[in-house]
Formats: sequence, C-alpha cells, structure tokens
Amino acid sequence: MDVSLDQALAAALAGDGAFVVVTGAGVSAESGIPTFRGQDGYWTVGSRVYHPQELATHAAFRRMPEEVWRWYLYRLGVCRAAEPNPAHVALVELERALADRFLLVTQNVDGLHMRAGSSRARTYQIHGNIHFMRCAGAHGDEIMEIPAGVSGLGPEDPLPDQLRGLLRCARCEGWARPHVLWFDEYYDEELYRFESSLAAAASASVLVTAGTSGNTNLPNQMVALARRSGALLIDINPEDNPFGRAARAADGIFLRGSASQELPRVLAAVTSALRAEAG
Ligand code: OAD
Repeated sequence: MDVSLDQALAAALAGDGAFVVVTGAGVSAESGIPTFRGQDGYWTVGSRVYHPQELATHAAFRRMPEEVWRWYLYRLGVCRAAEPNPAHVALVELERALADRFLLVTQNVDGLHMRAGSSRARTYQIHGNIHFMRCAGAHGDEIMEIPAGVSGLGPEDPLPDQLRGLLRCARCEGWARPHVLWFDEYYDEELYRFESSLAAAASASVLVTAGTSGNTNLPNQMVALARRSGALLIDINPEDNPFGRAARAADGIFLRGSASQELPRVLAAVTSALRAEAG
C-alpha cells in the first residue's frame, strides 16, 4: 500500500498541475468537533427539536435570528475550545512543501486549518468560517471577525442582552449573521470561491478528499472534474463512501483510516517524491 501511494504520487507530481485537498468534518473529528451527519447536531428551541438543515437557513434566521445565533454561538464555543490535530498540521506542511502548487478547499467552518497555520491565500473556506460574521442586510460584502467580547454559549444559555448589541453590522446597525453558507443559499465566487475551486480541480494533477461524506455539491463537482482530466484521486476516510469509490474506479487510492493517520502518510510520500525529483 505504501509503495503504491509513493509511486502514484511520484508519477502524478511529475506533471505540473495543482495539488488540491478537499477536507470535511472528519478532519476535525479528532479535535473533538462533531461531524455534520453524526448524532449531535440537533437543537431544541422551546419544545421543538430542529434539525441542522432547518436551523442553518436564511429562512430560519429571518424568522428567529436570536435562536439561530444561540445555536451558532454554542458551536463557536466548541470550535474555540478545540485544537488542531495532526491532520491539520500535515496540511500546513504539505502547503510548505508544495508552495503555489498547493490548494486547500475546506467545507469546515471551524477555522482550525487557519489556526494550524494554513495560509489565507491558499485555503478556500467554501462554507465560510464560524468565527466571522457579516451584515444580514445590504452590507454583506464586508466580513468581520466576531468581536472578542462575544463568548460561546452553553447549549441551554439564552442570548445575553449585551450580545444583541454586538452582533450588529457596523454600518447600518441591523443584525449581523454568521459568515457561513446556509442550506437555502448558493455557492458564489465572492464569498465562497466557487469558480476558483472548480478551476483548481480542473487543473489538478492530484485531488485528495479527506473526512467528507460526499453529500455536498461543490466537492462532488470538483471530484468529477479532476477525474475527467486524469488527476490522481486519493480518498481518506475510515468508512466506505462515494469519494473512496470514485478514487478506486479511477485507478486512484482509497486510504481507509483516520485523517490524522493518513494525511501524514500522504505528506511523507509527497516529501520523498519531491526530494527524488530534486535529485
Ligand atoms: P459529514 O458529517 O457528512 O461526514 C463526515 C465524514 O468524515 C464521514 O464520511 C465520516 O466517515 C468521516 N470521518 C469520521 N471520522 C473521521 C476521521 N477521524 N478521519 C477521517 N474521516 C472521518 O461531514 P462533511 O462531509 O464535511 O455544509 O459535510 C459536508 C457539509 O455538509 C458540511 O460542511 C455542511 C453539511 O451540509 C454546510 O453547512 C453548508
């Protein structure tokens, strides 16, 4: 298995296309952040139990902004308390080794890639970042860090009065909203790097998917484009999944295991291929 990973990566890196990694919630699972389709994603408002697909929507925010903010501030607290794990660190090292051939496209909103040291320029956060907010009205092009005075909430905490005043657009004083892509919204280039992600996949020599169940649109399009252009597909996941099957069907590699074990193996193989190439 190691031999074929080494050989496949050495051959693919001899081309001059991009090395693109797409990450999902599984990469942060070992940092203690629940995966999206695990069992912890439900939220109770009054006596109603909401599924994330109902709460993470613009429609829900219009109806009950404070409840949606409570849910996001609870999740913000979980993300602030988490630390990057060896998978995040391996991706920082891959960026260092591959420089401008490297691109990280993450579905994770937890900000752990940035905290580990991945660069803003080479990390596309295609679902946004929970540490940021933007105007819910007309000034949504300006992305602001959630003020330090806004603390994470416990699951039962009400929204404190003083936070209502802080979760505001600086220009119009209307509600700010979390800077995340909601289920009733579409990817775009300006906020979520839609076209740039597709272009990178189309020009990739290697596309690695790690810790994602393959349920979202943009990563699926990226895998299809990379496959069509003959890129080496590598999937990392402890479970069988559509991207693992796509990789195997395209003579790629399915590394069945955790991201924190397998991404360092990919890093080691890349490093040795680059060293051999340099002579
Ligand atoms: P999911 O929760 O759908 O899938 C997590 C994947 O990680 C599963 O395939 C697990 O088998 C795998 N996994 C679990 N532990 C792992 C580990 N230690 N190492 C590697 N893999 C592991 O999360 P995503 O695929 O990221 O979007 O979900 C994608 C998007 O769906 C989310 O970003 C969210 C949701 O709609 C938005 O909110 C816009």
